[in-house]
Amino acid sequence: MSKVAKLEIEGKIYELPIVEGSEGEKAVDISQLRQQSGYITLDDGYGNTGSCKSAITFIDGEKGILRYRGIPIEDLAEKASFVETAYLIIFGHLPNSAELNRFSDLLTQNEMLHEDLKFHFEGFPPNAHPMAILSAMINASSCFHQRILGPYDDEVFELQAARLISKVRTIAAFAFRKSRGLPIIYPKPVYKYTANFLHMMFSQPFQDYELKPEIVRALDLIFLLHADHEQNCSTATVRMIASSKANLFASAAGAVCAIWGPLHGGANMEVVQMLEEIHRGGDDGSRFIAAAKDKKSGHKLMGFGHRVYRNYDPRAKIIKAQCDQLLAVLKRTDPLLDIAKKLEEAALHDSYFIERKLYPNVDFYSGIIMRAIGIPLEMFTVMFAIGRMPGWIANYKEIMEGQGSRIYRPRQIYVGPTRQSYQPLADRK
Ligand code: CMC
Repeated sequence: MSKVAKLEIEGKIYELPIVEGSEGEKAVDISQLRQQSGYITLDDGYGNTGSCKSAITFIDGEKGILRYRGIPIEDLAEKASFVETAYLIIFGHLPNSAELNRFSDLLTQNEMLHEDLKFHFEGFPPNAHPMAILSAMINASSCFHQRILGPYDDEVFELQAARLISKVRTIAAFAFRKSRGLPIIYPKPVYKYTANFLHMMFSQPFQDYELKPEIVRALDLIFLLHADHEQNCSTATVRMIASSKANLFASAAGAVCAIWGPLHGGANMEVVQMLEEIHRGGDDGSRFIAAAKDKKSGHKLMGFGHRVYRNYDPRAKIIKAQCDQLLAVLKRTDPLLDIAKKLEEAALHDSYFIERKLYPNVDFYSGIIMRAIGIPLEMFTVMFAIGRMPGWIANYKEIMEGQGSRIYRPRQIYVGPTRQSYQPLADRK
């Protein structure tokens, strides 16, 4: 017998179905509540609202668990590549060799941008933010593939997904080169996904960038660890846009704007800026911790806290270990890593952070790896967006294939003025 919850409103009892997920997560289905009672539910910031059922990513925030399609993030980080993981997230299973080869070939075949798109880059000022360029260029590139603009078509979805994943990397590298006044470097089909990106970022027309395997692997890992994270702000944005049956590229362009914000993907830049400031000031970070605890200051400890994790973010653990490993292999040190570790130690022993269960999130250490790789600060959030692309695409696919999925349209409780009459201009004070 299916379980129900009972809700009493003004003496009347409403029976609401209980929905259970495959990992035992429970929800009360209130989709018929307004129709039956006239009431809606109010959940500012959606902290307690399940907006969909999804089979892509599972997070247990209390225990610090993250799995893509059931596979623990730790296993994927150790054994898989970003492209393999992207396939898993989008298509629901690990690819066999034929599937992986086909998908990799599609990525290679779609790595170039239409030559006319290069002129679009000319229209941006040199100091344009790469996230603005990325979002604009994703939309612009769809104009060169008219099929993308048509209705969802299962037959060509793999191609569209590969096209987006591949082109976004080329757009990102071109945007960086343009912002530095450097000549554009075209992709090389011999390189795999991440190596090709590094080549387009750092090669010169007269000299190829030396691809160190440790650096390629570290960036591949960064992409992989960002590949999906269930219903976060940008992914919910994809689903919102896709629910209107907008195309994949339009949905992804919107998600890039959502992830840009400092409370979301933009936090990786802010963390490094914070660590640099601590370094320059020569203090121990206690000023930042004090400001983060003072609500009036308007500051937060960037790279700390998470809506879902009430424990150490498993991605942060992997990245922290990778930071030590990469710097050791490269025989380098970074004072910011020492500062970050001390800051973490201080925060984790501070009652403010303990009581609120605030731990380092994915952004706390990712900037330090990106610095070691040579990624410039203004490109950090772009790396997050490149990595998150498979998750956005998989969520788009779920919406498009969803049985009876409706347009996303939350309700509100109106708190503005009640009816008032229009005052002619001459009568207004
Ligand atoms: N520094 C200081 N206080 C914090 C922080 C922080 N980083 N994060 C949360 N709090 C406080 C918050 O003010 C609230 O205090 P109180 O109970 O006294 O009102 C309490 O902790 C609980 O906050 P919450 O409900 O857990 O926070 P949220 O779910 O509304 O916001 C967050 C989540 C990630 C936006 C927030 O923790 C934050 O702003 N962190 C810093 C920015 C950051 O690192 N963002 C990257 C997130 S991970 C990558 C991604 O998914 O984008």
